[in-house]
Amino acid sequence: MTVTIVGAQLGDEGKGGIVDLFGEPADVVARYQGGDNAGHTVVHAGEEYKLSLVPSGAVRGKVGVLGNGCVVNPGTLFDELDTLRERGLDPDVRVARRAHVIFPYHRALDGIEEDAKSDEDREVGTTGRGIGPTYEDKAARRGVRVADLTDSDRLRERLEYVVPQKRAIAETVFGVDVGERFDLETLYEEYHEYGERLVGEGMLVDAGEFLTDRIEAGDDVLLEGAQGTVLDIDHGNYPYVTSSNPTAGGAATGTGLPPSVAGEAVVGVVKGYLSRVGSGPMPTELGGVAGDTPEYTEGEGEREALATKIREAGGEYGTVTGRPRRVGWLDLPMVRHAARRSGFTGLAVNHIDTLAGFDEVRVAEAYRLDGERVETLPATVREWAACEPVYRSFDGWADADWAAIAGEGYDALPGNAQTYLEYVSEETGVALAAVGIGPDREDSIVLDHPL
Ligand code: IMP
Repeated sequence: MTVTIVGAQLGDEGKGGIVDLFGEPADVVARYQGGDNAGHTVVHAGEEYKLSLVPSGAVRGKVGVLGNGCVVNPGTLFDELDTLRERGLDPDVRVARRAHVIFPYHRALDGIEEDAKSDEDREVGTTGRGIGPTYEDKAARRGVRVADLTDSDRLRERLEYVVPQKRAIAETVFGVDVGERFDLETLYEEYHEYGERLVGEGMLVDAGEFLTDRIEAGDDVLLEGAQGTVLDIDHGNYPYVTSSNPTAGGAATGTGLPPSVAGEAVVGVVKGYLSRVGSGPMPTELGGVAGDTPEYTEGEGEREALATKIREAGGEYGTVTGRPRRVGWLDLPMVRHAARRSGFTGLAVNHIDTLAGFDEVRVAEAYRLDGERVETLPATVREWAACEPVYRSFDGWADADWAAIAGEGYDALPGNAQTYLEYVSEETGVALAAVGIGPDREDSIVLDHPL
């Protein structure tokens, strides 16, 4: 069978840990969207692995697949594989022939357009990995697929068409001199070599065929979402989104598995609070981060102190970029929206240990918008930015011996934490599947394992 893991918030929900937990009995772990903008941290035998492209199951000896819905930077892919090998692992990673390739000009244009937008404070705050420009080329039918890297004539033909266009856009539209960065011959040589390495290492597959065959042979497959629901290009907070579909529908289109197979079990992952990287509204935000929080002026007293406490305790700094993340209270309209869009069959709530030590823990149970009570996410940035959270307050819980609690199970959690968790489950209509109380796989309580 399959289980799909989906971020229910704005990315960084701790999906890596849940993939690791629920992927334990799985044979294959496949990513279905995104590229090296993801930041998954896996702790294995006391060792920490930070991955931005390789599916996190590869750390544990699973077959990792990058599905056709992914965008692949081959340089990052081989760097990560080489690093894992240097650390004594033997990762087995397959790449869909239909996945699209990120080129240096995509990265360059990502930065150039963000710079241009920042003049009017309109930047998205992207990870700068070229994700948006690569999906843009895919949709415009001028992209280069992974399979094209293995065909020298086809690769040259694609690059001859696209590279002069990219140079013209950078230089003429944005007035940026790209010099040697967009040199066709250099790109051709480098990327053709990547194609040879992908073939040489037997990494290329038709993702749909490969996964279907494995499932028919009795394997369990975990489908690993990157980013989160509110960053989804269709269901997120457009334009402050990534350019793919992290919601469960993306697991079907991004792997080639039928929706009935990719949607068998869908676990939504949330943090007990909320964090956000980059710009855009965040009604429950505490304090702020200069450059990201709209109209932020530093020093909001008590709220700023709460933000700092959560940020430090939860290590809320970007895995890929190192940027401080914006933090706030749990936003239930957002989680309800996520649960409905992806049809969650289970909820994993992380960072319950991070919330320890507060007198009071708050949750936005709804919003107030133009005098009306709103229980799910509005469609536009303007409306969302105008939402005032309606808070419900919970008594906090003290710090505890979380490792011991993990060993004992759910009933050992502080009573106030249980009250909080059960409220979230009830309000979203999704049963608890797991509770995260620390960074390691062992620091989790499993209530309902989907596999
Ligand atoms: P992009 O995916 O680099 O195009 O960035 C688009 C938006 O998604 C920005 O707000 C990023 O901060 C956000 N984003 C992309 N990947 C992640 C992630 O893995 N975690 C959190 N936010 C992300």
